[in-house]
Amino acid sequence: PLVPTADLVADAAAARRAVPAFNVITLEHAEAIADGVADWAAGTGGTGAAILQVSQNAVAYHRGQVAPIVAACRLIAEASDARLSVHLDHATERDLLAAAAAAGVSSVMFDASTLPHAENVAATREATAWAQARGLYVEAELGEVGGKDGAHAPGVRTDPDEAHQFVADTGVDALAVAVGSSHAMTERTAALDHPLIERLAAAVDVPLVLHGSSGVPWTELRAAARSGITKINIGTLLNVSFTAAVRTALADERLVDPRKYLTPARTATATVISEAMAELNAAG
Ligand code: G3H
Ligand code: ZN
Repeated sequence: PLVPTADLVADAAAARRAVPAFNVITLEHAEAIADGVADWAAGTGGTGAAILQVSQNAVAYHRGQVAPIVAACRLIAEASDARLSVHLDHATERDLLAAAAAAGVSSVMFDASTLPHAENVAATREATAWAQARGLYVEAELGEVGGKDGAHAPGVRTDPDEAHQFVADTGVDALAVAVGSSHAMTERTAALDHPLIERLAAAVDVPLVLHGSSGVPWTELRAAARSGITKINIGTLLNVSFTAAVRTALADERLVDPRKYLTPARTATATVISEAMAELNAAG
Protein backbone atom coordinates (compact mmCIF):
# COMPACT_ATOMS: atom_id res chain seq x y z
CA PRO A 1 0.00 0.00 0.00
CA LEU A 2 0.86 3.66 -0.37
CA VAL A 3 1.70 5.12 3.04
CA PRO A 4 3.04 8.49 4.21
CA THR A 5 6.82 8.84 4.51
CA ALA A 6 6.33 10.18 8.04
CA ASP A 7 4.89 6.80 9.13
CA LEU A 8 7.80 4.82 7.67
CA VAL A 9 10.38 7.08 9.28
CA ALA A 10 8.57 7.00 12.64
CA ASP A 11 8.35 3.19 12.54
CA ALA A 12 12.06 2.94 11.70
CA ALA A 13 12.99 5.34 14.49
CA ALA A 14 10.94 3.36 17.01
CA ALA A 15 12.73 0.16 15.98
CA ARG A 16 16.15 1.88 15.87
CA ARG A 17 16.42 0.90 12.24
CA ALA A 18 16.70 2.88 9.03
CA VAL A 19 14.14 2.84 6.25
CA PRO A 20 15.75 2.69 2.80
CA ALA A 21 14.87 5.38 0.27
CA PHE A 22 15.57 4.23 -3.28
CA ASN A 23 15.86 6.66 -6.19
CA VAL A 24 13.40 6.27 -9.06
CA ILE A 25 14.45 7.46 -12.50
CA THR A 26 12.25 5.37 -14.78
CA LEU A 27 9.00 3.44 -14.42
CA GLU A 28 11.11 0.27 -14.35
CA HIS A 29 12.98 1.53 -11.28
CA ALA A 30 9.71 1.95 -9.37
CA GLU A 31 8.53 -1.51 -10.47
CA ALA A 32 11.88 -3.03 -9.47
CA ILE A 33 11.75 -1.40 -6.02
CA ALA A 34 8.22 -2.67 -5.38
CA ASP A 35 9.17 -6.16 -6.60
CA GLY A 36 12.45 -6.27 -4.70
CA VAL A 37 10.94 -5.13 -1.39
CA ALA A 38 7.97 -7.49 -1.73
CA ASP A 39 10.22 -10.44 -2.68
CA TRP A 40 12.44 -9.83 0.33
CA ALA A 41 9.43 -9.48 2.63
CA ALA A 42 7.85 -12.69 1.32
CA GLY A 43 11.05 -14.54 2.17
CA THR A 44 11.06 -13.24 5.75
CA GLY A 45 7.33 -13.45 6.40
CA GLY A 46 7.16 -9.75 7.21
CA THR A 47 5.99 -6.62 5.43
CA GLY A 48 8.71 -4.67 3.70
CA ALA A 49 8.87 -0.91 3.82
CA ALA A 50 10.73 1.54 1.61
CA ILE A 51 10.55 5.04 0.21
CA LEU A 52 10.34 5.67 -3.53
CA GLN A 53 12.12 8.95 -4.12
CA VAL A 54 12.18 11.09 -7.24
CA SER A 55 14.90 13.72 -7.37
CA GLN A 56 14.72 17.13 -8.99
CA ASN A 57 17.32 15.83 -11.45
CA ALA A 58 15.04 12.91 -12.33
CA VAL A 59 12.16 15.36 -12.84
CA ALA A 60 14.42 17.37 -15.18
CA TYR A 61 15.06 14.15 -17.12
CA HIS A 62 11.28 13.75 -17.45
CA ARG A 63 11.17 17.11 -19.26
CA GLY A 64 10.46 19.01 -16.06
CA GLN A 65 7.24 17.13 -15.33
CA VAL A 66 6.92 15.63 -11.87
CA ALA A 67 3.28 14.50 -12.10
CA PRO A 68 3.62 11.47 -14.44
CA ILE A 69 6.47 9.76 -12.57
CA VAL A 70 4.94 10.51 -9.15
CA ALA A 71 1.58 9.18 -10.35
CA ALA A 72 3.30 6.00 -11.51
CA CYS A 73 5.08 5.62 -8.16
CA ARG A 74 1.84 6.15 -6.25
CA LEU A 75 -0.07 3.59 -8.32
CA ILE A 76 2.74 1.04 -8.04
CA ALA A 77 2.81 1.57 -4.27
CA GLU A 78 -0.98 1.18 -4.02
CA ALA A 79 -0.81 -2.13 -5.87
CA SER A 80 2.06 -3.49 -3.77
CA ASP A 81 1.98 -5.66 -0.64
CA ALA A 82 4.96 -3.64 0.60
CA ARG A 83 4.51 -0.41 2.53
CA LEU A 84 5.82 2.25 0.16
CA SER A 85 5.83 6.04 0.26
CA VAL A 86 6.66 8.62 -2.41
CA HIS A 87 9.16 11.41 -1.70
CA LEU A 88 10.62 14.34 -3.66
CA ASP A 89 14.43 14.27 -3.33
CA HIS A 90 16.97 17.12 -3.57
CA ALA A 91 14.60 19.89 -4.60
CA THR A 92 16.15 23.33 -4.86
CA GLU A 93 13.27 24.93 -6.77
CA ARG A 94 10.28 26.18 -4.81
CA ASP A 95 7.99 25.73 -7.81
CA LEU A 96 8.84 22.04 -7.82
CA LEU A 97 7.69 21.69 -4.20
CA ALA A 98 4.27 22.95 -5.24
CA ALA A 99 4.11 20.70 -8.30
CA ALA A 100 5.19 17.66 -6.28
CA ALA A 101 2.65 18.43 -3.56
CA ALA A 102 -0.07 18.63 -6.21
CA ALA A 103 1.16 15.35 -7.71
CA GLY A 104 0.75 13.61 -4.35
CA VAL A 105 4.11 13.09 -2.66
CA SER A 106 3.88 12.91 1.14
CA SER A 107 7.35 14.28 1.79
CA VAL A 108 9.97 16.51 0.23
CA MET A 109 13.64 17.23 0.65
CA PHE A 110 14.31 20.93 0.24
CA ASP A 111 18.02 21.16 -0.41
CA ALA A 112 19.59 24.57 0.08
CA SER A 113 22.78 23.01 1.40
CA THR A 114 24.95 24.37 -1.37
CA LEU A 115 24.14 27.93 -0.24
CA PRO A 116 26.11 29.79 2.42
CA HIS A 117 24.85 28.89 5.91
CA ALA A 118 22.64 31.92 6.61
CA GLU A 119 20.96 31.59 3.22
CA ASN A 120 20.41 27.87 3.77
CA VAL A 121 18.68 28.64 7.09
CA ALA A 122 16.48 31.38 5.65
CA ALA A 123 15.48 29.47 2.50
CA THR A 124 14.87 26.23 4.41
CA ARG A 125 12.77 27.93 7.11
CA GLU A 126 10.54 29.55 4.51
CA ALA A 127 10.17 26.41 2.37
CA THR A 128 9.54 24.23 5.42
CA ALA A 129 6.73 26.46 6.70
CA TRP A 130 5.15 26.44 3.26
CA ALA A 131 5.40 22.67 2.85
CA GLN A 132 4.30 21.75 6.37
CA ALA A 133 1.24 23.97 5.98
CA ARG A 134 0.31 21.64 3.10
CA GLY A 135 0.80 18.51 5.18
CA LEU A 136 4.19 17.56 3.79
CA TYR A 137 6.99 16.00 5.84
CA VAL A 138 10.15 18.03 5.20
CA GLU A 139 13.79 16.95 5.05
CA ALA A 140 16.63 19.45 4.64
CA GLU A 141 20.39 19.25 4.57
CA LEU A 142 23.10 20.87 6.62
CA GLY A 143 26.80 20.51 5.92
CA GLU A 144 26.57 19.38 2.29
CA VAL A 145 27.08 15.72 1.39
CA GLY A 146 29.80 15.44 -1.27
CA GLY A 147 29.26 14.91 -4.97
CA LYS A 148 27.37 18.17 -5.64
CA ASP A 149 28.66 21.61 -6.57
CA GLY A 150 28.31 24.12 -3.77
CA ALA A 151 29.72 26.65 -1.37
CA HIS A 152 31.35 24.16 0.99
CA ALA A 153 34.78 22.55 1.00
CA PRO A 154 35.06 18.86 0.03
CA GLY A 155 34.91 16.60 3.06
CA VAL A 156 32.94 19.13 5.13
CA ARG A 157 31.06 17.58 8.09
CA THR A 158 27.87 18.62 9.88
CA ASP A 159 28.58 20.26 13.23
CA PRO A 160 26.28 19.02 16.05
CA ASP A 161 25.76 22.46 17.65
CA GLU A 162 25.00 23.98 14.26
CA ALA A 163 22.64 21.09 13.53
CA HIS A 164 20.75 21.69 16.77
CA GLN A 165 20.37 25.38 15.93
CA PHE A 166 19.44 24.63 12.29
CA VAL A 167 16.59 22.33 13.30
CA ALA A 168 15.36 24.88 15.88
CA ASP A 169 15.56 27.74 13.36
CA THR A 170 13.95 25.93 10.39
CA GLY A 171 11.47 23.50 11.97
CA VAL A 172 12.44 20.66 9.60
CA ASP A 173 11.11 17.16 10.27
CA ALA A 174 14.29 15.30 9.27
CA LEU A 175 17.89 16.33 8.74
CA ALA A 176 20.37 15.09 6.12
CA VAL A 177 23.88 15.19 7.53
CA ALA A 178 27.40 15.07 6.10
CA VAL A 179 29.22 12.32 8.01
CA GLY A 180 31.59 10.84 5.44
CA SER A 181 29.45 9.60 2.54
CA SER A 182 29.49 11.12 -0.92
CA HIS A 183 27.04 10.94 -3.82
CA ALA A 184 27.37 8.73 -6.91
CA MET A 185 30.09 6.37 -5.71
CA THR A 186 30.24 3.07 -7.62
CA GLU A 187 32.44 1.32 -5.04
CA ARG A 188 31.80 0.82 -1.32
CA THR A 189 34.85 2.62 -0.01
CA ALA A 190 33.38 5.48 2.06
CA ALA A 191 34.05 5.44 5.80
CA LEU A 192 31.45 7.00 8.08
CA ASP A 193 32.29 9.06 11.16
CA HIS A 194 30.28 7.04 13.70
CA PRO A 195 31.17 9.14 16.77
CA LEU A 196 29.89 12.18 14.85
CA ILE A 197 26.63 10.38 13.98
CA GLU A 198 26.13 9.65 17.69
CA ARG A 199 26.82 13.26 18.63
CA LEU A 200 24.41 14.48 15.95
CA ALA A 201 21.70 12.06 17.08
CA ALA A 202 22.10 13.37 20.64
CA ALA A 203 22.11 17.01 19.49
CA VAL A 204 18.94 17.01 17.36
CA ASP A 205 15.51 15.60 18.10
CA VAL A 206 14.55 14.81 14.49
CA PRO A 207 15.51 11.72 12.46
CA LEU A 208 18.85 11.86 10.63
CA VAL A 209 19.18 11.01 6.93
CA LEU A 210 22.22 9.57 5.18
CA HIS A 211 22.74 10.46 1.52
CA GLY A 212 25.21 8.87 -0.87
CA SER A 213 24.75 5.46 0.73
CA SER A 214 25.74 3.50 -2.39
CA GLY A 215 29.37 4.14 -1.49
CA VAL A 216 29.07 2.91 2.12
CA PRO A 217 29.69 -0.74 3.16
CA TRP A 218 26.62 -2.56 4.56
CA THR A 219 28.24 -3.09 7.97
CA GLU A 220 28.78 0.67 8.18
CA LEU A 221 25.17 1.36 7.18
CA ARG A 222 23.89 -1.01 9.88
CA ALA A 223 26.12 0.66 12.44
CA ALA A 224 24.89 4.07 11.29
CA ALA A 225 21.28 2.94 11.78
CA ARG A 226 22.11 1.84 15.33
CA SER A 227 23.73 5.22 15.99
CA GLY A 228 20.71 7.22 14.84
CA ILE A 229 20.47 7.33 11.04
CA THR A 230 16.80 6.70 10.25
CA LYS A 231 16.58 7.09 6.45
CA ILE A 232 19.23 5.69 4.10
CA ASN A 233 19.25 7.05 0.54
CA ILE A 234 20.42 4.66 -2.16
CA GLY A 235 20.53 5.58 -5.83
CA THR A 236 23.69 4.74 -7.75
CA LEU A 237 23.75 1.12 -6.57
CA LEU A 238 20.54 0.49 -8.52
CA ASN A 239 21.88 2.06 -11.67
CA VAL A 240 25.08 0.04 -11.64
CA SER A 241 23.08 -3.18 -12.01
CA PHE A 242 20.36 -1.67 -14.20
CA THR A 243 22.86 -0.37 -16.74
CA ALA A 244 25.07 -3.46 -16.64
CA ALA A 245 22.05 -5.57 -17.55
CA VAL A 246 21.14 -3.24 -20.42
CA ARG A 247 24.73 -3.35 -21.68
CA THR A 248 24.78 -7.13 -21.62
CA ALA A 249 21.47 -7.41 -23.45
CA LEU A 250 22.48 -4.88 -26.10
CA ALA A 251 25.49 -6.99 -27.03
CA ASP A 252 23.02 -8.69 -29.37
CA GLU A 253 22.94 -6.14 -32.17
CA ARG A 254 19.77 -7.58 -33.72
CA LEU A 255 17.82 -6.65 -30.59
CA VAL A 256 15.39 -3.74 -31.16
CA ASP A 257 12.49 -4.24 -28.72
CA PRO A 258 13.18 -2.12 -25.56
CA ARG A 259 11.42 -4.76 -23.46
CA LYS A 260 14.25 -7.14 -24.33
CA TYR A 261 16.78 -4.99 -22.46
CA LEU A 262 14.54 -3.29 -19.90
CA THR A 263 13.21 -6.59 -18.56
CA PRO A 264 16.66 -7.86 -17.50
CA ALA A 265 17.47 -4.38 -16.19
CA ARG A 266 14.34 -4.33 -14.02
CA THR A 267 14.97 -7.88 -12.81
CA ALA A 268 18.60 -7.13 -11.94
CA THR A 269 17.54 -4.02 -10.06
CA ALA A 270 14.87 -5.89 -8.11
CA THR A 271 17.53 -8.39 -7.06
CA VAL A 272 19.75 -5.58 -5.82
CA ILE A 273 16.81 -4.12 -3.89
CA SER A 274 16.13 -7.48 -2.21
CA GLU A 275 19.80 -7.76 -1.28
CA ALA A 276 19.77 -4.22 0.13
CA MET A 277 16.70 -5.05 2.25
CA ALA A 278 18.41 -8.18 3.55
CA GLU A 279 21.65 -6.34 4.34
CA LEU A 280 19.95 -3.42 6.06
CA ASN A 281 17.80 -5.73 8.14
CA ALA A 282 20.56 -8.19 9.03
CA ALA A 283 21.73 -8.39 12.63
CA GLY A 284 25.03 -6.86 13.68
O1 G3H B 1 19.46 11.46 -2.52
C1 G3H B 1 19.88 10.41 -3.02
C2 G3H B 1 20.99 9.67 -2.44
O2 G3H B 1 21.80 10.50 -1.70
C3 G3H B 1 21.63 8.68 -3.36
O3 G3H B 1 23.06 8.69 -3.35
O4 G3H B 1 23.37 7.63 -5.57
O5 G3H B 1 25.26 7.93 -4.02
O6 G3H B 1 23.49 6.26 -3.50
P1 G3H B 1 23.82 7.56 -4.15
ZN1 ZN C 1 21.31 12.66 -1.92
